[in-house]
Amino acid sequence: MPKRDLISPDDLSLEELTALLDLAAEMERDGGRDLCAGKILATLFYEPSTRTRLSFESAMLRLGGRTLGFADPGTSSVKKGETIADTARMIQAYADIIVMRHPLEGAARVAADYADVPVINAGDGGHMHPTQTLTDLYTLKKARGGFQGLVVGLCGDLKYGRTVHSLAPMLARLGAKIYCIAPPELPMPEQALREARSAGAVLGETADLDAVIGQLDALYATRVQKERFPSSEEYERVKGTYVVSAALLSKAKPDMLVLHPLPRVDEIAYEVDDDPRAAYFEQAANGVPVRMALIAALLRLTGETVLAEARAAEPSTPGRARPRAAPEVCANPSCVTNHEHYLTPQFAPVPDESRLVHCIYCDHEVQA
Ligand code: NCD
Repeated sequence: MPKRDLISPDDLSLEELTALLDLAAEMERDGGRDLCAGKILATLFYEPSTRTRLSFESAMLRLGGRTLGFADPGTSSVKKGETIADTARMIQAYADIIVMRHPLEGAARVAADYADVPVINAGDGGHMHPTQTLTDLYTLKKARGGFQGLVVGLCGDLKYGRTVHSLAPMLARLGAKIYCIAPPELPMPEQALREARSAGAVLGETADLDAVIGQLDALYATRVQKERFPSSEEYERVKGTYVVSAALLSKAKPDMLVLHPLPRVDEIAYEVDDDPRAAYFEQAANGVPVRMALIAALLRLTGETVLAEARAAEPSTPGRARPRAAPEVCANPSCVTNHEHYLTPQFAPVPDESRLVHCIYCDHEVQA
């Protein structure tokens, strides 16, 4: 059976997503039943992480499997200039499944292309973070039972924040509505919003959190991604734009969930932690059963089929045919193709936008 990876939200069909969330609930209820006994998970973390890496390790251990990997690329052969492709080809001999976090956009896609074992994207630069999205959705579903008609405010750094780039299309597919709440300097990139927009799921884009908070069923706060700003001056200008406080929550619905992928810097005041609406620590805890479900499903150890044989062909995931008039290089300086020079940049048409193509690694869009 061909392997499956989780690199972007487009890798899962709606049925698969639902099945994964159900399996996560089962994992939370019944534990891992040693489903992964004898299996090894490799965690390759080229960027800092606490929750994501440790919840993946915890998930594999709870499934009866074992883990290896690195949390500091400075101690690995990356330091000597080893490429992602070579690393992936080697690690597949040491582990049954790979989890990778990397500062370059599209890095996990490259690892998935070169490894014969399943690869999970644990964050590729400012691009995507699909397993955080699964955790976010699981948390919402547990609290609300479903997604249809839920109004979710995505707030903070929507430009560089990878969690919201994966979350917005998924929420739209599930029937939820979104508000984008960001300072003018940090809007959601059009490419990340395209699917939600065409589904009619975007209720508005504003910088004014106060103005919309009363309408929200969930507020998804995010950290300003200091490490991705071109200069510290630009970061200084926007840091601290939003602080979720008790005073702000007094204007919110009595059952509005406060979510945050964490770590927080100053986006949520500590006084909010005692508010029953604060759900971010539970959200972090939910990362374990969700990742247990994902690992077991990708390794096909669940008994029933959770993931179909072939990768889902969502409308936003066109094939890899190189359209005519595609550019020679990707214009996104953080795209993996501009750093790993054995890669050939590849572009695919943007659905319903005949004039645009997008890079298949980082999704950056350009005129065809
Ligand atoms: C997020 C990330 O790494 O993108 N953290 C996480 O995985 N929970 C959010 C962030 O770093 O701000």
